[in-house]
Amino acid sequence: AAPIRYEAENATISQGILETLHTGYSGSSYVNSDNVTGSYVEFTVTAASAGTATITIRYANGTAVDRPSTVALNGSAIATGLSFPATANWDTWASKAVTAPIAAGTSKIRITGTTANGPPNLDYLDV
Ligand code: GCU
Ligand code: CA
Repeated sequence: AAPIRYEAENATISQGILETLHTGYSGSSYVNSDNVTGSYVEFTVTAASAGTATITIRYANGTAVDRPSTVALNGSAIATGLSFPATANWDTWASKAVTAPIAAGTSKIRITGTTANGPPNLDYLDV
């Protein structure tokens, strides 16, 4: 099935804000997480049927330093310290994809920064 887009402005934010300072984002804003270890954005996604899902994460990292972040599905890590490398500037967005077995119905996908820089700016998930 075609992926469904889940905008970060509809996600749950722990330690961060909705921001519109930079350009090129989808929807009405993106999330600027606090630059601390453990700040996260959690998306609620819905799958029509069980199967292997491709989770595409739209992000920007306008620094020269990677923003490794752990991706968890319903509380279990599916990618630990996943690399979110630099994207030239904060107006430039890139996609990072991970796959995971997903159940039918509702799941929680959480992206948590694993360094003191926090996660990158996050715009949406396509699942
Ligand atoms: C800047 C930028 C933010 C970003 C932050 C960061 O303040 O404007 O969008 O989140 O840097 O380093 O994380
Ligand atoms: Ca930030």
